[in-house]
Order: sequence, then structure tokens, then C-alpha cells
Amino acid sequence: KIVPVIMAGGKGTRLWPLSRASAPKQFIQFIGDKTLFQSTLARVSDPELYEAPIVLTNEEFRFLVAEQARELGLKLAAVLLEPVARNTAAAVAAAATLVTELFGKDATMHVLGSDYEIDANATYYDCVRTARDTALEGKLVTFGIAPTEPATGYGYIESGKALSTGAHAVKRFVEKPALEKAEAMVASGGFYWNSGMFMFSAGQLLSEMHEYAPEVEKAASKAVSKSTRDLDFTRLDAEAFVKSPDISIDYALMEKTANAAVVPSPFTWSDLGSWDSVWKVGKRDENGNVAAGDTTLVNTKNSLVMTHGVHLAVQGMEDVAVIASEDAVYVGHLKDSQEVGKLVKLLAGQK
Ligand code: GDD
Ligand code: MG
Repeated sequence: KIVPVIMAGGKGTRLWPLSRASAPKQFIQFIGDKTLFQSTLARVSDPELYEAPIVLTNEEFRFLVAEQARELGLKLAAVLLEPVARNTAAAVAAAATLVTELFGKDATMHVLGSDYEIDANATYYDCVRTARDTALEGKLVTFGIAPTEPATGYGYIESGKALSTGAHAVKRFVEKPALEKAEAMVASGGFYWNSGMFMFSAGQLLSEMHEYAPEVEKAASKAVSKSTRDLDFTRLDAEAFVKSPDISIDYALMEKTANAAVVPSPFTWSDLGSWDSVWKVGKRDENGNVAAGDTTLVNTKNSLVMTHGVHLAVQGMEDVAVIASEDAVYVGHLKDSQEVGKLVKLLAGQK
């Protein structure tokens, strides 16, 4: 069976004010009845295919993780707590070390982010099985999404020769390219977006981390061997873990390995990283508006209007995001959605 490993430690600042330092986007309900973290859990809950999941997060979010899993009636195998955020390479290496301890080095891990929505239909699970079969052959497997625009916030995967499992070898992995590069890759064809999910054996991941990111691997495995358990939580040793470089798995490993594979993935995948992506994914009315909560819209078009509290009335606006939480309101053009993170930094500086 596959061991699911869910990364739920990111901050998601571009979705301010709904995504807060105290409750980042993976733990809040955007549209629908589950949080992003909960829909990720639901996707790995089939006991025929999966073991109980391991969740990686920070100290501050441990109760959100436990509570949201409990709401779904799901049992977690472990909640690994990072004393400081050291990005996804260290998180994945720590998880692989724990998986090796619990299930052995040949266990297959499915690493999932918790900040995108997937339509988990039969096509999706076919891709999961293909990825598992390919991971069993020693590959580091990615899921490739057909790009629809030259977005700069994703990893790009160049697909190479076909493998026997139905996956393809990866010629090149380029994390977050500059716009011109992204445009060239989308125009040339043969490239996919990296979905942010991975499948590999714990042993393969650790040996490649050892080769390409030895300081990450060393810090993470030491942090696990010196970790302490407290009820459902496993606390990584702080002194060891802080020594890891702050780097994502995409830069640390996926750009470097010669052993990557990609499963062409025709399922519906939507990153919910910023307000414009929430607007794109949301259910638009005849005026192109996506509204959630207690709202009134007059003469307003192609806008995203969401409230988690006060009644929100918007008049005569176009292409904007108006987002109200209990204690803060954001108003901005949807085209500036990538810049919200900067605004949040500014706000943090004023406190
Ligand atoms: N536990 C833990 N610790 N989780 C983390 C940490 C950390 O330090 N940092 C980030 N995460 C979680 C986030 O919550 C998210 O669910 C996932 O790991 C990915 O992190 P992001 O920071 O959102 O990465 P990204 O969106 O910039 O890029 C990644 O995802 C894209 C697709 O959504 C890359 O893998 C790209 O190549 C990919 O295209
Ligand atoms: Mg993301």
C-alpha cells in the first residue's frame, strides 16, 4: 500500500485576508464544504490503496490538523511537527526517514501539497496507480498537468521517452521559470506543469537527497532520530532541523536528478494560490462574478466577492477582488493577485 505524506506547513500569504498567519489557506474553507487540507485527506482515504496518512506541519497548526482530520473521522499515522519552517525538501526528507522506520525503505510514498483542488475521479486514480508502478522501478515520479498559460509560479517538466508503465522519462525540470522562458516552453509543446505531487520509494528519495542535497538529508534524518513523541504528535529535534538549508524539493532535487519520470495527468487540477485562481476555479454567475458568503452585487462584472462575516455590498466594479474576513477587508484588481504577498509583508512591518 502507498503511504500518503501531506505537506501542510505553507503560509499562503497571497490569499490575505482569508489566509492568515494563524490559519493559512490549506485550513480554510473557500468554496465547498471542506478545507483544502480536508479534500487532500479525503483523496488518500481509500484503505485498499493507502495506509493512514502522515502530515507535516508547523507547531502552530497542530491543532488545526488534528481537528480537521477528526471532523472527517480519519485517523492519521503521524503528525510530524517542524520546529522552524525549512521548506519542502527538509519536510519530505524527514517524512522519508520516518516512513523508512515505520514501513521499510521500499515503501512507496505519495507526497501531496495541500493548496490545490483535484477532481478525484477514475482518471485521477489511474494516474496514481501508474505513478506507483513507476515509483516501484526506482523513479522519482511527478504528475504533469497540461499548461494553459505561461504561468511563472509552477515547475515545468519536459517529457522524454516513454517508459513501460505508461509514464515518461523527464528530460528537464525547470522550477518557476522567468516569463520569457515559460512562454517559450508553452509554445514549444512537450512541457507539463508540475502538479506539486510526487511518488517515490522512501529509500530512493533519501539516497538521491544524500547525493544532491546532503545537508538537507543529514539535518532531516538527525531531526527524526532525535525526535520526541507526545500523544499524536512527533516533534522533530530543533537543533538538528534548523541546520537544513531552506530550499524546496523542486530546486533541491527535481531540477537535479537524472531519475525523474512524469505521468501525463489529464484530471482537473486547480492551484488555489491567489485570488485570480480562486476566481477562475469558482462558479461564475452570468455576469462572470464568483460570490461567497453574504453578498449583494449591483452592476458588477468578472469579480470575486467573498465574505466570512459582514454583509458585503459591491457596486459598479469590474475585474476586482473584494474579500472580507472577520477583521480585515482586501480590495484589489484581480490582475494584481500575485502582489498580495508583498502587501502582507508591508502590513507585518507596521505591527
Ligand atoms: N510541512 C511543510 N513545511 N509544508 C510546507 C512547507 C514547509 O516548510 N513549505 C511549503 N509547504 C507546503 C505548502 O503548504 C503547500 O501545500 C506545498 O507544501 C507546496 O508549497 P508551496 O510553497 O505552495 O509551493 P509552490 O506552490 O510555490 O510550488 C510547488 O507547487 C507547484 C504546484 O502547486 C512546486 O512543487 C511547483 O513545482 C509546483 O508547480
Ligand atoms: Mg503552492
